[in-house]
Order: sequence, then C-alpha cells, then structure tokens
Amino acid sequence: MTKSPFLYSAAFAATLVAGAVSAQAASLTLYCSADEAWCQQIKTGFEAETGITVDMTRKSSGETYAQVRAEASNPKGDVWWGGTGDPHLQAAEEGLTEAYESPMRGELYDWAIKQAEAADNKTIGVYSGALGFGYNKDLLARNNLPEPKCWADLIKPEFKGHVQIANPNSSGTAYTMLATMVQLMGEDQGFDYMKALHKNVNQYTKSGSAPIKAAGLGETTVGIVFMHDAVSQSAAGFPIVTVAPCEGTGYEIGSMSLIKGARNPDEAKKFYDWALTAAMQDKAKDVKSFQIPSNKNATPSPLSPDLSAIKLIDYDFKKYGSSDERKRLLQKWDTEVSTLPQ
Ligand code: F6P
Repeated sequence: MTKSPFLYSAAFAATLVAGAVSAQAASLTLYCSADEAWCQQIKTGFEAETGITVDMTRKSSGETYAQVRAEASNPKGDVWWGGTGDPHLQAAEEGLTEAYESPMRGELYDWAIKQAEAADNKTIGVYSGALGFGYNKDLLARNNLPEPKCWADLIKPEFKGHVQIANPNSSGTAYTMLATMVQLMGEDQGFDYMKALHKNVNQYTKSGSAPIKAAGLGETTVGIVFMHDAVSQSAAGFPIVTVAPCEGTGYEIGSMSLIKGARNPDEAKKFYDWALTAAMQDKAKDVKSFQIPSNKNATPSPLSPDLSAIKLIDYDFKKYGSSDERKRLLQKWDTEVSTLPQ
C-alpha cells in the first residue's frame, strides 16, 4: 500500500518551519557518498526547505569513512549521508558516529531499522540496491563477445581488458563485491575469483559507479556496479544492459550516520529526520537515482531493479561491516589480488 509521499507528520513539518525562521546563519557540513547529482539535489532541497546552508562534499563510501576517522579528534563533518552500509557500521563500531532515534523510524522498512539495531542506533538505512553489472551492448557486439549473464562469464579469457570495477578501499560498491564473493563462494574460492577477475580488469576506479559511466561512453565493455547505477545509464540513453548475475548476488543498505562531536548537532538531526521522509526520498528518481527508498511511503521508480525478483544472498552486514573483518579483507585484497600481474 502506498500513501502520498507528502504525508509526513505535521510535527515534523512544524519543526522544519521553525528551523527555517530561527536558523538564519545556521549551517551544516554534509558528507555525501551517493551519486553527485543526488548529493546536489539533497543539498539544494534541504537548503530551500530549512534555510540552513549546506556545505556538501561528495566522496566514495570508503574514502568518507577514512576522512571521518582521520578527523575524529577535530570533526569537521556533521552528517554522513549515503554510501554502502558496511563502512557506516565500521564507523559506528569505532565510536566515530553518534546514536540517534529519529521520530521517522516508524515509517521505515525493517531492513533499514535492522541496520540501525546492528549498530546501537549509530546508523540507519536510507536506501537499498543489488550488486550486479552492466555492459555496453554496442561494444559487446563489436568485439564479438557473448552476452555475460553470470559472475563466471566475467573471468573468461575473452573478457580480458573488458571489465572495470572500483577499488574496494575507496569504494563501497567494490567492497560489497569482495564481501559478496566471499559469502557466495567461500573465502578461498572468493579470493580465487577476485584474482581471476583481476586479469580481466582494465582499470580500478575510485568511485563505484564510474565503471558503468565509462561503459556508457564506450570506454569499457563491462562495469561491475550496483544494478541501479547501470539502469541510470540506460535511462540516460546509453546502450547499457543491466544484469542480475545468475549465481546470485549481494546488496547494500545505503546508510546515514551522525558524526560524533559534530559542530552543528541540531542541524544534523534536522537533516537526518528530513532525509527519512517519503517526500525527500521520492525525489531521487528525478536525478536518475533508482535505489529502493527506506521509507515505506516513498514510491520507487518503475525502473528500480525489483529486489524480490533477484537472487540475493543473505548478506551478513554485521560481520562484513565489522571493523576487523573489513580491514582484514581489504588488506588481503591489497596484498593477494591488487599486486598480481595482469
Ligand atoms: O549513488 C550510487 C551508489 O551506487 C550508491 O547506491 C552507493 O551507496 C554508492 O554509490 C557507493 O559508492 P562508492 O562505491 O563510490 O562508495
């Protein structure tokens, strides 16, 4: 059942208005880890509704985690919105983020609340999306390559130099891929897969969605990304086909956290509550962000990949978002995979 996206509580609306009146010089420093266009929309949307000036920086999930950690003794950011949940969970465990129970929680799906519960309420789910890949169908045909349908296809010798993915240290997408392979195949086989994939990778990018943008422009044939990022490219008119890998796949719970020791904690909470409203989440599709919103009253785009139709693994967010496990897997990837000759 879908309610109007504008039915968020009168109390919350009143808070926004009061904030707009009293917060002449108020400001907020937002670290944003989703797509640039969505981050810009959020910045201007929140400014327009509240009068609070937003200083927004867009960086990938792993990079933002590293920045929040580096700034821990003198925090500069107030709120970290978006990006994969694993580094948000790691930040929570390391005491870098603040617990908060928003009055908006009642409107959220269980998976968004579970994310909060896994971190003593130091983070919360704002969207979800499945990992997969996309390919440029023109380039595929020009190179006489078979249609890839499975993870196993991407490590075949004919795909050498045709696959692009981000670096899992900077990118939450690529870390999701690494953790997915370990969960799908077991650790030894998962790493064997990443080593075989390495031989076919033409470039490790910083940002998770960069590979499919490159595929859209014809710079690589395949990009391993979240499926919604591949859909964004086809929706923008690029010849991209989105694939849900046949073996099954992992997924993300894109998250949001309040930074501990923030300079503007009241504005940060106001942003947090606003970012959980259906009205805010409904606007994502206007900038071709096709994740599944965490507010039950928000309406996903008809173009959003239907998670119930995709073979999803039971991704263990608590384990793969734990500080020890994330550090261990990234170190192992650095030493055992990234250093191999191609
Ligand atoms: O906004 C696109 C998106 O894929 C999000 O769904 C995801 O949380 C984020 O980017 C991950 O970006 P990165 O891999 O660069 O950390």
